[in-house]
Amino acid sequence: MPYYSDELIEEVRSRNDIVDVIGSYVHLQKKGSTYFGLCPFHNEKTGSFSVSPNKQMYYCFGCGAGGNVFTFLMQYENFTFPEAMQELADRVGIELPKQEMTSAQRREADRRTQLLEINKEAAKYFYMLLRGPRGQRAHEYFKKRELSDETMQKFGLGYSDQYSDDLYKYLRSKGYDDEILKETGLVTIDEVRGGHDKFWNRAMFPIMDVHNRVIGFGGRVMGDGEPKYLNSPETKIFDKSRNLYGLNIARSTRKNQLLLCEGYMDVIALHQAGFDNAVASLGTALTSGHASLLKRYTNEVYLTYDSDGAGVKAALRAIPILKEVGITTKVINMRPYKDPDEFIKALGAQEYEERIKKAENSFMFQIRIMQAGYDMDDPESKTAFYNEIAKKLLGFTEELERTNYTQAVSREYSIPYDDLRKLVNSMAMKGGIVKPQTKLKSGINEKNKKEDGMKQSQKLLLTWLIEDNSLFDRIKGRISADDFTEELYHKVAKEVFSQYETTHTVNPARIVSMFTDEDEQREVAGLFNATIHQVEGKNDKATALRETVVRIKQNSIDYRSKHLAPTDMEGMMRIIEDKRALEELQKIPE
Ligand code: UTP
Ligand code: MN
Repeated sequence: MPYYSDELIEEVRSRNDIVDVIGSYVHLQKKGSTYFGLCPFHNEKTGSFSVSPNKQMYYCFGCGAGGNVFTFLMQYENFTFPEAMQELADRVGIELPKQEMTSAQRREADRRTQLLEINKEAAKYFYMLLRGPRGQRAHEYFKKRELSDETMQKFGLGYSDQYSDDLYKYLRSKGYDDEILKETGLVTIDEVRGGHDKFWNRAMFPIMDVHNRVIGFGGRVMGDGEPKYLNSPETKIFDKSRNLYGLNIARSTRKNQLLLCEGYMDVIALHQAGFDNAVASLGTALTSGHASLLKRYTNEVYLTYDSDGAGVKAALRAIPILKEVGITTKVINMRPYKDPDEFIKALGAQEYEERIKKAENSFMFQIRIMQAGYDMDDPESKTAFYNEIAKKLLGFTEELERTNYTQAVSREYSIPYDDLRKLVNSMAMKGGIVKPQTKLKSGINEKNKKEDGMKQSQKLLLTWLIEDNSLFDRIKGRISADDFTEELYHKVAKEVFSQYETTHTVNPARIVSMFTDEDEQREVAGLFNATIHQVEGKNDKATALRETVVRIKQNSIDYRSKHLAPTDMEGMMRIIEDKRALEELQKIPE
């Protein structure tokens, strides 16, 4: 990763006005000093997404997404920080210092660039063929599958024609040598007979990565024939377990879930029917690489696999892989049709939407499939089934969650709740998996509430300070950065106070850049966008400010008292002084 100085990062940031940048992605409308629009990170009908030209930050009051111009590109384009930096530097014509590369690294990078170029050339070639006279049959094939011209264009569909070396010759004419062509997997080179195309007379599906770069192809026979689909082999640029078909489009969906299906045609049919959140793995089973890729875009996946035995098996394998990365899964039932493509053709988009609504919780799906292996009329088999259920219920380590699932299963399979619960508990004791029941202490909730209130006060003060710098003088000597007890808040407050001290202004967007992690950036943005309720009049505002300062100070004193070392006399003195000051503060009205 290239290293950039803070100054350079700040220069790139400050020269890219956040309203301009976000405005090219989201339709923004000015209201007062702030711009508003529909949030691109969650599905909403009212615009809770705000972009502030003063703060040079964005923040969504609906989902909490927020940050500066870098964060936006990292979230929206899924760029890494260096990628966002590059993009924004290019945008305003700033030349970034070149990354130091060894000659081997440079050769490797050049090679990847070339492979991408060649795949792009090939895609353009197939695309052109489909739309010419030689592509007529393929065009009819796609039409027969009810794809519109618009859809064909959107997915860059093409055709590889009947000659078995025309692509090879075409690419040679573009100046690429045998050695690099071989590496693309698009041709094979025979010592005697020369170059041959891998794909011929097939309907072609270019496969793109999330940045819309062609990295490989799938090619389907038009009609019956083996193999039905032929795919590019894995290459330096094509890693099947880390790419998903359709994600280049689905990544921009405003839906909160992604639909995961099995086939190219399923993805295309779903998008055509308006489900712009469909993706598929590339003719391989779902891997943990796919799962972490998905997790970058969503927390919830709907499986819409084939309804046959193979599809069910694939779903059972996918669920734990998704769970591993923290994705919850639901399963859509396609029956009596084979796959989403056929379902939509037969029943239409609206019925499919219904199926999405009725999608089955993945745990209930697993239990239901498991049941097929047991004979419910045989007491022994039935008992074995219940035991398996109990074992699976133990997988939920959260007590509340386990209770909820135990209830759901008991309802669904008419097992008396108490019996099932006892079974689960006795199994837990035996296995030592769960400690004997501990009652949820109501105190926990109280504590959380207090902490949240505390955080809210610290957030409020930070937001006020950056929005109205005159407040710095009002709180001078009463509150300092050290009174912010939360670690991240403390870091941010320190920066806020020191910026004000040296420059007499605060640059919140710059503070966001100090954090490279997207989640931290979002949290920092949250600190500068606390919502302020009903503080209108001048007096109300003064009161609210004083109360907030008092709360923060009180908390800071409590915190320090609790963590004070018995020998720390100086710390002790400071606490006593602060306590006295706090009492004064509470007495005197502003
Ligand atoms: P399916 O056989 O379910 O294909 O395989 P499909 O998408 O429904 O195809 P159509 O509707 O008949 O055109 C699912 C996926 O498995 C991979 C492809 O990625 C396909 O989309 N596959 C299948 C292959 O790679 N090779 C094959 O021979 C078959
Ligand atoms: Mn199909």
